[in-house]
Amino acid sequence: MLAEPGDFAEWRSAARSLLADGVAPEDVSWRGSGEGASLFSDQIVAAPAGQLSLPRALVEIAERVICHRDAEAPARLYRIVWRVARDRHLLARTTDPDVDWLRGADKAIRRDVHKMHAFVRFRRLGEEAGRESFAAWFEPTHRIVRLTAPFFQRRFYGMDWAIVTPDARAIWRNEQLVYGSGGTKDEVPDSDVVEDQWRTYYGAIFNPARVKIDAMRAEMPKKYWKNLPEAQDIAPLLAGAGARVERMREMAVSAANPRTEKWRTRVPEELALTEDVTSLAELAKAVGRCTRCPLYCNATQGVAGEGPERARIMLVGEQPGDQEDLQGRPFVGPAGQLLDEALAEAGLDRTRLFLTNAVKHFKFEPRGKRRLHQNPTSAEIDICRWWLDKERAFVQPELIVTLGGSALRGVTGKSASIKSMRGSVHELEGGARLIATIHPSFLLRLPDRTRAAEERKAFVADLIRARKLAA
Ligand code: URA
Repeated sequence: MLAEPGDFAEWRSAARSLLADGVAPEDVSWRGSGEGASLFSDQIVAAPAGQLSLPRALVEIAERVICHRDAEAPARLYRIVWRVARDRHLLARTTDPDVDWLRGADKAIRRDVHKMHAFVRFRRLGEEAGRESFAAWFEPTHRIVRLTAPFFQRRFYGMDWAIVTPDARAIWRNEQLVYGSGGTKDEVPDSDVVEDQWRTYYGAIFNPARVKIDAMRAEMPKKYWKNLPEAQDIAPLLAGAGARVERMREMAVSAANPRTEKWRTRVPEELALTEDVTSLAELAKAVGRCTRCPLYCNATQGVAGEGPERARIMLVGEQPGDQEDLQGRPFVGPAGQLLDEALAEAGLDRTRLFLTNAVKHFKFEPRGKRRLHQNPTSAEIDICRWWLDKERAFVQPELIVTLGGSALRGVTGKSASIKSMRGSVHELEGGARLIATIHPSFLLRLPDRTRAAEERKAFVADLIRARKLAA
Protein backbone atom coordinates (compact mmCIF):
# COMPACT_ATOMS: atom_id res chain seq x y z
CA MET A 1 0.00 0.00 0.00
CA LEU A 2 1.42 3.34 -0.94
CA ALA A 3 -0.08 6.00 1.28
CA GLU A 4 0.99 8.64 -1.16
CA PRO A 5 1.27 7.52 -4.77
CA GLY A 6 3.81 9.73 -6.47
CA ASP A 7 6.08 9.95 -3.42
CA PHE A 8 9.38 8.50 -4.57
CA ALA A 9 10.81 8.01 -1.07
CA GLU A 10 7.88 5.85 -0.06
CA TRP A 11 8.02 3.72 -3.19
CA ARG A 12 11.80 3.34 -2.92
CA SER A 13 11.58 2.21 0.66
CA ALA A 14 8.99 -0.42 -0.28
CA ALA A 15 11.00 -1.51 -3.35
CA ARG A 16 14.16 -1.84 -1.25
CA SER A 17 12.42 -4.03 1.25
CA LEU A 18 10.91 -6.26 -1.43
CA LEU A 19 14.19 -6.57 -3.32
CA ALA A 20 16.07 -7.38 -0.13
CA ASP A 21 13.55 -10.18 0.52
CA GLY A 22 13.89 -11.43 -3.07
CA VAL A 23 10.19 -10.90 -3.80
CA ALA A 24 9.59 -11.25 -7.54
CA PRO A 25 7.56 -8.56 -9.34
CA GLU A 26 4.77 -10.99 -10.22
CA ASP A 27 4.26 -11.70 -6.51
CA VAL A 28 3.63 -8.07 -5.59
CA SER A 29 0.40 -6.17 -5.91
CA TRP A 30 0.97 -2.43 -5.65
CA ARG A 31 -1.90 -0.21 -4.59
CA GLY A 32 -2.28 3.48 -3.92
CA SER A 33 -4.37 4.60 -0.96
CA GLY A 34 -8.01 4.57 -1.91
CA GLU A 35 -7.40 1.75 -4.40
CA GLY A 36 -8.49 -1.33 -2.45
CA ALA A 37 -7.09 0.13 0.75
CA SER A 38 -9.19 -1.95 3.15
CA LEU A 39 -7.94 -5.20 1.63
CA PHE A 40 -4.30 -4.38 1.93
CA SER A 41 -4.05 -1.82 4.68
CA ASP A 42 -2.20 -4.08 7.13
CA GLN A 43 0.56 -4.76 4.64
CA ILE A 44 2.47 -1.52 4.63
CA VAL A 45 6.11 -2.46 4.26
CA ALA A 46 8.93 -0.86 6.19
CA ALA A 47 12.32 -0.04 4.70
CA PRO A 48 15.20 -2.28 5.75
CA ALA A 49 18.59 -0.81 6.57
CA GLY A 50 20.20 -2.19 3.36
CA GLN A 51 21.03 -0.01 0.39
CA LEU A 52 19.55 -0.46 -3.04
CA SER A 53 22.30 0.06 -5.54
CA LEU A 54 20.98 1.07 -8.93
CA PRO A 55 22.41 2.96 -11.90
CA ARG A 56 22.10 6.67 -11.21
CA ALA A 57 20.29 7.22 -14.50
CA LEU A 58 17.57 4.78 -13.44
CA VAL A 59 17.13 6.41 -10.05
CA GLU A 60 16.71 9.79 -11.71
CA ILE A 61 14.12 8.46 -14.14
CA ALA A 62 12.32 6.49 -11.41
CA GLU A 63 12.07 9.64 -9.31
CA ARG A 64 10.15 11.26 -12.14
CA VAL A 65 8.18 8.31 -13.45
CA ILE A 66 6.75 7.39 -10.04
CA CYS A 67 4.71 10.58 -10.46
CA HIS A 68 2.96 9.15 -13.53
CA ARG A 69 -0.77 8.76 -13.08
CA ASP A 70 -0.71 5.28 -14.63
CA ALA A 71 -1.89 3.09 -11.71
CA GLU A 72 0.58 0.47 -12.87
CA ALA A 73 3.58 2.81 -12.55
CA PRO A 74 4.83 1.53 -9.13
CA ALA A 75 4.57 -2.10 -10.28
CA ARG A 76 6.21 -1.44 -13.63
CA LEU A 77 9.03 0.47 -11.98
CA TYR A 78 9.56 -2.34 -9.54
CA ARG A 79 9.72 -4.86 -12.37
CA ILE A 80 12.29 -2.70 -14.16
CA VAL A 81 14.39 -2.32 -11.00
CA TRP A 82 14.17 -6.07 -10.44
CA ARG A 83 15.27 -6.73 -14.01
CA VAL A 84 18.06 -4.12 -13.97
CA ALA A 85 19.49 -5.80 -10.88
CA ARG A 86 19.90 -8.90 -13.07
CA ASP A 87 20.73 -7.19 -16.37
CA ARG A 88 22.72 -3.96 -16.01
CA HIS A 89 22.28 -3.17 -19.71
CA LEU A 90 18.52 -3.42 -19.72
CA LEU A 91 17.97 0.33 -20.12
CA ALA A 92 19.93 0.33 -23.36
CA ARG A 93 17.53 -2.23 -24.87
CA THR A 94 15.11 0.26 -26.32
CA THR A 95 12.88 -2.35 -27.95
CA ASP A 96 12.12 -3.95 -24.59
CA PRO A 97 8.46 -3.20 -23.69
CA ASP A 98 9.32 -2.18 -20.11
CA VAL A 99 12.08 0.15 -21.29
CA ASP A 100 9.82 1.55 -23.99
CA TRP A 101 7.13 2.27 -21.37
CA LEU A 102 9.73 3.85 -19.07
CA ARG A 103 10.95 6.22 -21.76
CA GLY A 104 7.45 7.19 -22.82
CA ALA A 105 6.38 7.79 -19.23
CA ASP A 106 9.50 9.83 -18.54
CA LYS A 107 8.89 11.98 -21.58
CA ALA A 108 5.30 12.59 -20.49
CA ILE A 109 6.46 13.64 -17.01
CA ARG A 110 9.15 15.96 -18.36
CA ARG A 111 6.59 17.61 -20.60
CA ASP A 112 4.16 17.99 -17.72
CA VAL A 113 6.88 19.49 -15.52
CA HIS A 114 7.78 21.91 -18.27
CA LYS A 115 4.16 22.98 -18.61
CA MET A 116 3.78 23.44 -14.87
CA HIS A 117 6.93 25.57 -14.70
CA ALA A 118 5.55 27.72 -17.48
CA PHE A 119 1.88 27.96 -16.58
CA VAL A 120 1.60 28.32 -12.81
CA ARG A 121 0.19 31.80 -12.10
CA PHE A 122 0.35 33.16 -8.58
CA ARG A 123 -2.31 35.33 -6.98
CA ARG A 124 -1.30 37.70 -4.23
CA LEU A 125 -2.80 36.91 -0.83
CA GLY A 126 -1.31 39.72 1.23
CA GLU A 127 1.69 40.74 3.25
CA GLU A 128 2.79 39.82 6.76
CA ALA A 129 5.93 41.00 8.56
CA GLY A 130 7.41 42.30 5.34
CA ARG A 131 6.92 39.03 3.41
CA GLU A 132 4.42 38.87 0.63
CA SER A 133 2.42 35.70 0.19
CA PHE A 134 0.97 34.20 -2.96
CA ALA A 135 -1.06 31.17 -3.95
CA ALA A 136 -1.61 29.35 -7.20
CA TRP A 137 -4.02 26.66 -8.34
CA PHE A 138 -2.76 24.23 -10.96
CA GLU A 139 -3.97 20.98 -12.47
CA PRO A 140 -1.02 18.99 -13.75
CA THR A 141 -1.65 15.83 -15.72
CA HIS A 142 0.55 13.81 -13.35
CA ARG A 143 1.44 13.99 -9.65
CA ILE A 144 4.41 16.27 -10.14
CA VAL A 145 4.18 18.76 -7.26
CA ARG A 146 7.33 17.40 -5.59
CA LEU A 147 9.23 17.49 -8.87
CA THR A 148 8.35 21.09 -9.62
CA ALA A 149 8.36 22.72 -6.18
CA PRO A 150 12.19 23.13 -6.03
CA PHE A 151 12.02 25.18 -9.23
CA PHE A 152 9.49 27.59 -7.70
CA GLN A 153 11.49 27.63 -4.50
CA ARG A 154 14.56 28.84 -6.37
CA ARG A 155 12.63 31.29 -8.47
CA PHE A 156 10.43 32.75 -5.74
CA TYR A 157 12.74 32.37 -2.79
CA GLY A 158 11.95 35.73 -1.24
CA MET A 159 8.20 35.35 -0.89
CA ASP A 160 5.84 32.89 0.79
CA TRP A 161 3.73 30.83 -1.55
CA ALA A 162 1.55 27.78 -1.88
CA ILE A 163 0.81 25.81 -5.01
CA VAL A 164 -2.38 23.81 -4.66
CA THR A 165 -3.19 20.91 -6.99
CA PRO A 166 -5.90 18.23 -6.76
CA ASP A 167 -3.35 15.65 -5.50
CA ALA A 168 -1.00 17.58 -3.23
CA ARG A 169 0.19 21.02 -2.32
CA ALA A 170 3.63 22.56 -1.89
CA ILE A 171 4.05 25.31 0.66
CA TRP A 172 7.09 27.58 0.88
CA ARG A 173 6.90 29.56 4.10
CA ASN A 174 9.68 31.14 6.16
CA GLU A 175 12.20 29.54 3.81
CA GLN A 176 10.92 26.02 4.43
CA LEU A 177 9.38 23.79 1.82
CA VAL A 178 6.68 21.40 3.00
CA TYR A 179 4.12 19.26 1.24
CA GLY A 180 0.51 18.70 2.14
CA SER A 181 -2.67 17.16 0.79
CA GLY A 182 -4.47 18.16 -2.38
CA GLY A 183 -7.07 20.90 -2.45
CA THR A 184 -9.61 22.69 -4.54
CA LYS A 185 -9.58 25.66 -6.85
CA ASP A 186 -11.72 27.80 -4.54
CA GLU A 187 -8.90 27.92 -1.97
CA VAL A 188 -7.06 30.32 -4.26
CA PRO A 189 -8.40 33.80 -5.08
CA ASP A 190 -9.65 34.27 -8.59
CA SER A 191 -7.82 37.36 -9.74
CA ASP A 192 -5.58 40.16 -8.55
CA VAL A 193 -3.17 42.83 -9.70
CA VAL A 194 -0.52 40.30 -10.68
CA GLU A 195 -3.04 38.87 -13.08
CA ASP A 196 -3.47 42.24 -14.74
CA GLN A 197 0.30 42.50 -15.06
CA TRP A 198 0.40 39.08 -16.73
CA ARG A 199 -2.23 40.13 -19.19
CA THR A 200 -0.45 43.38 -19.97
CA TYR A 201 2.83 41.51 -20.39
CA TYR A 202 1.25 38.91 -22.65
CA GLY A 203 -0.37 41.61 -24.76
CA ALA A 204 2.97 43.40 -25.06
CA ILE A 205 5.00 40.37 -26.15
CA PHE A 206 2.32 39.02 -28.47
CA ASN A 207 3.81 39.39 -31.92
CA PRO A 208 1.04 39.38 -34.50
CA ALA A 209 3.52 38.79 -37.33
CA ARG A 210 4.69 35.51 -35.85
CA VAL A 211 1.39 33.91 -34.99
CA LYS A 212 1.41 30.18 -35.55
CA ILE A 213 -1.82 28.87 -34.16
CA ASP A 214 -0.92 25.18 -34.27
CA ALA A 215 2.42 25.75 -32.55
CA MET A 216 0.68 27.92 -30.00
CA ARG A 217 -1.86 25.20 -29.22
CA ALA A 218 0.91 22.62 -28.95
CA GLU A 219 2.85 24.78 -26.52
CA MET A 220 -0.08 26.10 -24.53
CA PRO A 221 -2.68 23.32 -24.79
CA LYS A 222 -6.24 24.45 -24.28
CA LYS A 223 -6.67 22.47 -21.07
CA TYR A 224 -4.41 25.00 -19.30
CA TRP A 225 -6.27 28.02 -20.59
CA LYS A 226 -8.91 28.06 -17.88
CA ASN A 227 -6.30 28.82 -15.21
CA LEU A 228 -4.23 31.23 -17.29
CA PRO A 229 -5.25 34.87 -16.93
CA GLU A 230 -3.73 35.82 -20.27
CA ALA A 231 -5.61 33.09 -22.15
CA GLN A 232 -8.80 35.16 -22.19
CA ASP A 233 -6.94 37.67 -24.36
CA ILE A 234 -5.81 35.17 -26.97
CA ALA A 235 -8.95 35.36 -29.10
CA PRO A 236 -9.10 39.19 -29.25
CA LEU A 237 -5.37 39.41 -29.89
CA LEU A 238 -5.61 36.91 -32.71
CA ALA A 239 -8.59 38.74 -34.16
CA GLY A 240 -6.58 41.96 -34.30
CA ALA A 241 -3.37 40.33 -35.53
CA GLY A 242 -3.84 41.09 -39.24
CA ALA A 243 -4.43 44.78 -38.65
CA ARG A 244 -1.44 45.03 -36.32
CA VAL A 245 0.86 43.40 -38.89
CA GLU A 246 -0.30 45.96 -41.44
CA ARG A 247 0.43 48.80 -38.99
CA MET A 248 3.89 47.38 -38.32
CA ARG A 249 4.59 47.24 -42.03
CA GLU A 250 3.47 50.81 -42.50
CA MET A 251 5.75 51.95 -39.73
CA ALA A 252 8.57 50.06 -41.48
CA VAL A 253 10.20 48.95 -38.25
CA SER A 254 13.78 48.28 -39.19
CA ALA A 255 15.91 45.50 -37.73
CA ALA A 256 18.47 46.80 -35.25
CA ASN A 257 21.23 44.79 -36.80
CA PRO A 258 21.32 43.51 -40.39
CA ARG A 259 23.37 40.50 -39.28
CA THR A 260 20.49 39.52 -37.03
CA GLU A 261 18.22 39.03 -39.99
CA LYS A 262 20.83 36.95 -41.77
CA TRP A 263 21.07 34.60 -38.83
CA ARG A 264 17.41 34.52 -38.11
CA THR A 265 16.50 33.34 -41.59
CA ARG A 266 18.62 30.27 -40.92
CA VAL A 267 16.31 29.23 -38.09
CA PRO A 268 13.32 27.31 -39.40
CA GLU A 269 10.32 29.26 -38.18
CA GLU A 270 8.29 26.20 -37.32
CA LEU A 271 10.87 25.12 -34.75
CA ALA A 272 10.83 28.41 -32.95
CA LEU A 273 8.55 27.29 -30.13
CA THR A 274 9.94 23.83 -29.44
CA GLU A 275 11.08 23.78 -25.85
CA ASP A 276 10.65 20.18 -24.82
CA VAL A 277 14.33 19.37 -24.63
CA THR A 278 15.76 16.03 -23.61
CA SER A 279 19.50 16.54 -24.20
CA LEU A 280 22.12 19.26 -24.02
CA ALA A 281 22.34 19.33 -27.82
CA GLU A 282 18.58 19.94 -28.10
CA LEU A 283 18.84 22.49 -25.33
CA ALA A 284 21.51 24.41 -27.25
CA LYS A 285 19.28 24.50 -30.33
CA ALA A 286 16.32 25.69 -28.29
CA VAL A 287 18.43 28.42 -26.63
CA GLY A 288 19.45 29.63 -30.09
CA ARG A 289 15.79 30.22 -30.88
CA CYS A 290 14.72 31.52 -27.48
CA THR A 291 12.08 34.25 -27.44
CA ARG A 292 11.30 34.14 -23.73
CA CYS A 293 12.14 37.80 -23.22
CA PRO A 294 12.58 40.76 -25.57
CA LEU A 295 16.41 40.52 -25.59
CA TYR A 296 16.20 38.13 -28.53
CA CYS A 297 14.88 40.94 -30.75
CA ASN A 298 18.23 42.62 -31.26
CA ALA A 299 20.70 39.84 -30.61
CA THR A 300 21.97 37.60 -33.36
CA GLN A 301 21.20 34.35 -31.58
CA GLY A 302 20.88 32.83 -28.14
CA VAL A 303 24.17 31.39 -26.93
CA ALA A 304 23.97 28.18 -24.93
CA GLY A 305 26.63 26.82 -22.62
CA GLU A 306 29.20 24.38 -23.90
CA GLY A 307 31.32 21.64 -22.42
CA PRO A 308 31.09 17.98 -21.43
CA GLU A 309 27.68 16.71 -20.34
CA ARG A 310 29.11 15.51 -17.03
CA ALA A 311 31.58 18.33 -16.30
CA ARG A 312 32.45 18.56 -12.61
CA ILE A 313 32.85 22.32 -12.73
CA MET A 314 30.42 24.77 -14.32
CA LEU A 315 31.58 28.34 -14.94
CA VAL A 316 28.79 30.87 -15.24
CA GLY A 317 29.39 34.25 -16.86
CA GLU A 318 27.01 37.14 -17.38
CA GLN A 319 25.87 37.12 -20.99
CA PRO A 320 27.44 36.68 -24.44
CA GLY A 321 29.46 39.63 -25.68
CA ASP A 322 29.75 40.94 -29.23
CA GLN A 323 31.93 38.06 -30.46
CA GLU A 324 29.97 35.39 -28.63
CA ASP A 325 26.76 36.75 -30.11
CA LEU A 326 28.15 36.43 -33.63
CA GLN A 327 29.88 33.08 -33.19
CA GLY A 328 27.22 31.46 -31.02
CA ARG A 329 29.74 30.23 -28.44
CA PRO A 330 30.42 31.47 -24.90
CA PHE A 331 33.66 33.19 -23.92
CA VAL A 332 35.32 33.52 -27.31
CA GLY A 333 35.89 37.30 -27.20
CA PRO A 334 38.37 39.40 -25.17
CA ALA A 335 36.94 38.38 -21.77
CA GLY A 336 37.10 34.78 -22.94
CA GLN A 337 40.78 35.14 -23.84
CA LEU A 338 41.56 36.53 -20.43
CA LEU A 339 39.56 33.72 -18.87
CA ASP A 340 41.48 31.13 -20.91
CA GLU A 341 44.79 32.52 -19.65
CA ALA A 342 43.62 32.54 -16.03
CA LEU A 343 42.27 28.98 -16.35
CA ALA A 344 45.61 27.80 -17.75
CA GLU A 345 47.45 29.47 -14.89
CA ALA A 346 45.13 27.81 -12.42
CA GLY A 347 45.79 24.42 -13.99
CA LEU A 348 42.23 24.04 -15.29
CA ASP A 349 41.53 22.54 -18.70
CA ARG A 350 38.78 24.56 -20.41
CA THR A 351 37.63 21.55 -22.44
CA ARG A 352 36.72 19.75 -19.22
CA LEU A 353 34.60 22.60 -17.88
CA PHE A 354 31.06 23.56 -18.72
CA LEU A 355 31.01 27.25 -19.63
CA THR A 356 27.76 29.13 -19.76
CA ASN A 357 26.07 32.43 -18.98
CA ALA A 358 23.28 33.66 -16.73
CA VAL A 359 21.65 35.38 -19.73
CA LYS A 360 21.74 33.77 -23.14
CA HIS A 361 21.35 36.83 -25.38
CA PHE A 362 23.70 39.75 -25.91
CA LYS A 363 22.22 42.96 -24.51
CA PHE A 364 23.74 46.02 -26.06
CA GLU A 365 23.25 49.60 -27.07
CA PRO A 366 24.07 50.48 -30.69
CA ARG A 367 26.66 53.27 -30.93
CA GLY A 368 27.47 53.95 -34.56
CA LYS A 369 28.81 50.71 -35.92
CA ARG A 370 29.64 49.38 -32.47
CA ARG A 371 27.48 47.48 -30.05
CA LEU A 372 28.16 48.53 -26.47
CA HIS A 373 27.56 45.97 -23.73
CA GLN A 374 24.69 46.70 -21.35
CA ASN A 375 24.17 44.92 -18.04
CA PRO A 376 21.14 42.67 -17.94
CA THR A 377 18.48 43.62 -15.40
CA SER A 378 17.57 41.33 -12.50
CA ALA A 379 14.31 40.53 -14.28
CA GLU A 380 16.17 39.46 -17.43
CA ILE A 381 18.47 37.28 -15.37
CA ASP A 382 15.50 35.77 -13.57
CA ILE A 383 13.65 34.98 -16.78
CA CYS A 384 16.76 33.41 -18.28
CA ARG A 385 17.33 31.23 -15.20
CA TRP A 386 14.90 28.87 -16.90
CA TRP A 387 17.74 27.88 -19.25
CA LEU A 388 20.47 27.93 -16.65
CA ASP A 389 18.42 25.59 -14.47
CA LYS A 390 18.03 23.21 -17.38
CA GLU A 391 21.76 23.26 -18.06
CA ARG A 392 22.44 22.62 -14.38
CA ALA A 393 19.99 19.73 -14.39
CA PHE A 394 21.70 18.11 -17.37
CA VAL A 395 25.31 18.67 -16.32
CA GLN A 396 24.86 18.28 -12.56
CA PRO A 397 28.18 19.93 -11.75
CA GLU A 398 29.76 19.38 -8.36
CA LEU A 399 30.96 22.94 -8.29
CA ILE A 400 29.66 26.14 -9.84
CA VAL A 401 31.93 29.14 -10.20
CA THR A 402 30.04 32.38 -10.76
CA LEU A 403 31.91 35.09 -12.61
CA GLY A 404 30.52 38.46 -11.56
CA GLY A 405 27.29 39.69 -9.97
CA SER A 406 24.87 38.72 -12.73
CA ALA A 407 26.10 35.13 -12.66
CA LEU A 408 25.73 35.07 -8.88
CA ARG A 409 22.13 36.21 -9.16
CA GLY A 410 21.52 33.77 -12.01
CA VAL A 411 22.65 30.83 -9.91
CA THR A 412 21.34 31.78 -6.46
CA GLY A 413 18.27 33.78 -7.43
CA LYS A 414 19.32 36.38 -4.90
CA SER A 415 20.97 39.77 -5.15
CA ALA A 416 24.01 39.15 -2.97
CA SER A 417 27.23 41.10 -3.43
CA ILE A 418 30.30 39.25 -4.66
CA LYS A 419 32.22 40.72 -1.75
CA SER A 420 29.91 39.08 0.79
CA MET A 421 30.12 35.67 -0.91
CA ARG A 422 33.71 35.57 -2.12
CA GLY A 423 36.35 33.61 -0.24
CA SER A 424 34.07 30.86 1.09
CA VAL A 425 32.40 27.83 -0.36
CA HIS A 426 28.61 27.84 -0.37
CA GLU A 427 26.28 24.86 -0.50
CA LEU A 428 23.61 25.10 -3.15
CA GLU A 429 20.27 23.42 -3.07
CA GLY A 430 20.57 20.09 -4.85
CA GLY A 431 24.06 19.30 -3.60
CA ALA A 432 26.38 21.42 -5.77
CA ARG A 433 28.80 23.88 -4.19
CA LEU A 434 29.38 27.45 -5.20
CA ILE A 435 32.40 29.72 -5.42
CA ALA A 436 31.76 33.35 -6.28
CA THR A 437 34.41 35.42 -7.98
CA ILE A 438 34.72 38.44 -10.24
CA HIS A 439 34.02 38.60 -13.96
CA PRO A 440 37.17 38.65 -16.15
CA SER A 441 35.94 41.78 -17.96
CA PHE A 442 36.25 43.60 -14.63
CA LEU A 443 40.02 43.08 -14.99
CA LEU A 444 39.92 44.48 -18.52
CA ARG A 445 38.30 47.66 -17.26
CA LEU A 446 40.76 48.44 -14.44
CA PRO A 447 42.93 51.44 -15.44
CA ASP A 448 45.46 51.01 -12.62
CA ARG A 449 48.02 48.35 -13.63
CA THR A 450 49.08 47.44 -10.11
CA ARG A 451 45.50 47.01 -9.00
CA ALA A 452 44.72 44.99 -12.14
CA ALA A 453 47.66 42.66 -11.43
CA GLU A 454 46.50 42.14 -7.83
CA GLU A 455 42.94 41.46 -8.87
CA ARG A 456 44.10 39.04 -11.55
CA LYS A 457 46.13 37.14 -8.98
CA ALA A 458 43.09 36.91 -6.68
CA PHE A 459 40.99 35.71 -9.60
CA VAL A 460 43.48 32.95 -10.44
CA ALA A 461 43.58 32.03 -6.74
CA ASP A 462 39.78 31.57 -6.81
CA LEU A 463 40.10 29.31 -9.84
CA ILE A 464 42.82 27.28 -8.11
CA ARG A 465 40.52 26.85 -5.13
CA ALA A 466 37.82 25.64 -7.53
CA ARG A 467 40.21 23.09 -9.07
CA LYS A 468 41.20 21.75 -5.68
CA LEU A 469 37.63 21.57 -4.45
CA ALA A 470 36.47 19.58 -7.45
CA ALA A 471 39.53 17.32 -7.50
N1 URA B 1 31.27 37.64 -20.96
C1 URA B 1 30.44 36.73 -20.41
O1 URA B 1 29.95 36.89 -19.30
N2 URA B 1 30.15 35.66 -21.10
C2 URA B 1 30.65 35.42 -22.29
O2 URA B 1 30.31 34.39 -22.86
C3 URA B 1 31.53 36.36 -22.83
C4 URA B 1 31.82 37.47 -22.15
